[in-house]
Amino acid sequence: MADIESLLKETRVFKPGREFSRKANWNKKTISEYRKLGEKNPERFWKKMALENVSWFTKPKKSLEWKAPTAKWFADGRVNVSYNCLDRHIEGKNAWRKNKAAIIWEGEPGDTRVITYKQLHREVCKFANVLKSLGVKRGDRVALYMPLIPELAIAMLSCTRIGAPHSIVFGGFSSEALRDRLDDAGAKVVVTADGGYRRGAPLPLKPAVDAALEGSTSVEKVVVVGRSRASVPMRWQRDFWWDDLMKVASPDCPPAKLPAEHPLFILYTSGTTGKPKGILHTTGGYLTHVATTSKAIFDLKEDDTYWCTADIGWITGHSYVIYGILANGATTLMYEGVPTHPEPDRWWDIIERWGVTIFYTAPTAIRTFIRLGEEHPKKHDLSSLRLLGTVGEPINPEAWTWYNRVIGKKNCPIVDTWWQTETGGIMISPLPGAVSTKPGSATLPFPGINPEIYTEEGEPADPPSGGFLVVRRPWPGMLRGIWGDKKRFKETYWGNYPNTYFTGDGAHRDKEGYFWIMGRVDDVMNISGHRIGTMEVESALVSHETVAESAVVGRPDEITGTAIVAFVTPKAGTNVDATLKKTLTKHVAREIGPIAKPADIRFTEALPKTRSGKIMRRLLRDLAAGKETVGDTSTLEDLNVLARLRESDED
Ligand code: WTA
Repeated sequence: MADIESLLKETRVFKPGREFSRKANWNKKTISEYRKLGEKNPERFWKKMALENVSWFTKPKKSLEWKAPTAKWFADGRVNVSYNCLDRHIEGKNAWRKNKAAIIWEGEPGDTRVITYKQLHREVCKFANVLKSLGVKRGDRVALYMPLIPELAIAMLSCTRIGAPHSIVFGGFSSEALRDRLDDAGAKVVVTADGGYRRGAPLPLKPAVDAALEGSTSVEKVVVVGRSRASVPMRWQRDFWWDDLMKVASPDCPPAKLPAEHPLFILYTSGTTGKPKGILHTTGGYLTHVATTSKAIFDLKEDDTYWCTADIGWITGHSYVIYGILANGATTLMYEGVPTHPEPDRWWDIIERWGVTIFYTAPTAIRTFIRLGEEHPKKHDLSSLRLLGTVGEPINPEAWTWYNRVIGKKNCPIVDTWWQTETGGIMISPLPGAVSTKPGSATLPFPGINPEIYTEEGEPADPPSGGFLVVRRPWPGMLRGIWGDKKRFKETYWGNYPNTYFTGDGAHRDKEGYFWIMGRVDDVMNISGHRIGTMEVESALVSHETVAESAVVGRPDEITGTAIVAFVTPKAGTNVDATLKKTLTKHVAREIGPIAKPADIRFTEALPKTRSGKIMRRLLRDLAAGKETVGDTSTLEDLNVLARLRESDED
C-alpha cells in the first residue's frame, strides 16, 4: 500500500526531448495516425503492421478471426521467424547487413564472441539440420535448458526454422521443475550445456538433465554444449556433443513456410495452482507484435547496440533479447553472468566498452544498484546511452528518478513497459518520441491495444479509482492457449468477464488516462520480476516429510519487490529448530529452484483459519509484513489465537 500511495502522489512529468522526437522511428504524426486507426479498427492497424514489419512467403489477406477465447491472426499467411530474423538481413536490399553484428556476447569470465548475421544464419541452418538428424519433425517440441550463451539463440532460431516449437526452461530451475516441464510438453529433444558461469564459478546443468530424465520420459536425445568444460557423463546413443554434431551438419536448410498460426513456442509460467502453465504462442501474430513494438518503443536504428539484461528463460528474453530485436536487423547484446561479478560495476563496464545505446532492465536490478552506490556507474562513461527501459514490476518513483539521473544523465527517455508472458509483447508503454512520462506509470496503451480497468462487476472503473486490469480486444501476440489444458485457459483468462482477457493485475488510471499498475491481485507473487505462485511453494513445502501444512504469502521487500514468507505447521513430533528452516529452504530450492526460496519460514501450531476452514491469508500477509509479530520466530507460534481475535474483530 505504501508504494501505491507514493505512486499516487507522483506528479512529475518528463517531456520527450526535441531532438529525440525529431529522429524517432515513430514520430508524433505517425503515432497519432496509428492511435486513431488502432482505436477505430485494430484489425486493420495490425494487418498494416504485419505487412510492414514482417516478410511473408504468402501475404495474409485475413487479419483477425475471433471466437472467444480462440484467436487466429493472419491465418492464411505463411511465414518463418528465422527467415525474418536472419535471411532477410543477408539478402536483397539489406544484404549489406550480412557482416553486421547480430549478437554481441560476453561470458561472465570475460570471454567474448561477436556473431554477424551471416554467421548466425549459417549456424542456425546447421543446427536446424542437426535437429532434423535427431528425428525432430515439424510440431515436435524441443526443450532448451541452457546458460545465456549464443548457442541458446542458435537453438531457438533453429527450432523456428523447421517449425519445432521450443520450450525454454530457465537454467535456474531445478531438475524436478525441469522434469515437470519436459513431461508436460512431451519434449523429444533437450539441448543443454555442461554448465554456465555464475558468480565466478561454473554452475552445472547437465546433471539436472540426467536427473530429470530418470525413469520414463518422452525425451529421446540430448545435445550438450561444451561451455564450462566440466566433466559430464554422456549416455551412449542418447547424449551428443554439440560440436560433434555441428561438424558434420550441412549449412543448407531452407526455412519452413509455416502457416501463421503454427505453434512457435511454449513457455511455462506460474499461476494460482501448484502446476505451472505452458503458455502457447504462435508464429505470425507474435512476430508482428514483437517486431512492431521493438521498432516503435525501443526506437531501434541501424547503428544501435541494444542490451536487454533479461535471461532468455523468461518471456522478456524471448521477445526482446532475440525475436523482436533480430527481426529489426539490430545488434543485441547478451551477457551470461551476474551483474556484480567480479565487481559491482560489471554492467556499467559493459555499457562503456561496447557503447550500448539502448538499455532495458528490471526495477529490482535498479534498486540493487542504488544500494551498491552511485560510485560504480560514475566510474564509467555511459554517454553512449540514448534510451532506457524497465519491465517486470511496478517501478517505484525513487528508482525511476535514480535511473534517470545516474544512468540516463537526464538525457534518455525511460520506457516503463507493462506486459506479461501471456501477452507475448509490450502492451502499455510510452512511445519515447511522443509520450511524456511520469515516474511509476507505464503511461498509455500501444496503438491497437485495448486495456481497460474493470470493477468486480465488470463495469469500467471511473478514474482515478482502481480495479482489475483487463484487455477488451484480442491482439496479435496474445497467448493461444495453455498447453494441453483448454479448460484452465478458459477459466484463468476468460472466466471473469465475457470476451475479455483478465490479466491478474490491479491498476488505476489518472485523469490523463495514464495507467498505473499496482501489481498482482491473484495468488501469484512477483519476486525480482519473476512470477512464483504461492501454491507452487506450498506444494513444494508439503512434499517434505516434516511438513503437515503450509501457507505462503509475499511481503514487501526493498530490493526484490516481494519476498516469500512461508508459514509452516510441522508434523507432530518434528524437532523445530534453525536446522529445520535450513532443510526446508533447501528443499524448496531442490523442488523448484533457488528463486523460490522463502526469505523467512515461520513455524506455527496451526494455520489461522476462518470458521469455514479458509486460511486467513490477509492476516498472514500482515504478519509477514511485520505488522503483528508474535514472539520468537524459532518457536511455534499460536496463530489461531490471533485468528480468533481477528475474527471477532471482523464479526
Ligand atoms: C508485472 C514479464 C508493473 C505484472 C514481461 C505482470 C509489471 C507480470 C510491469 C508479468 C510494469 C510486468 N509495471 N508491473 N512495467 N511489467 N509487470 O509474465 O504484475 O514474467 O502481470 O512477464 O509482471 O510477468 P511475466
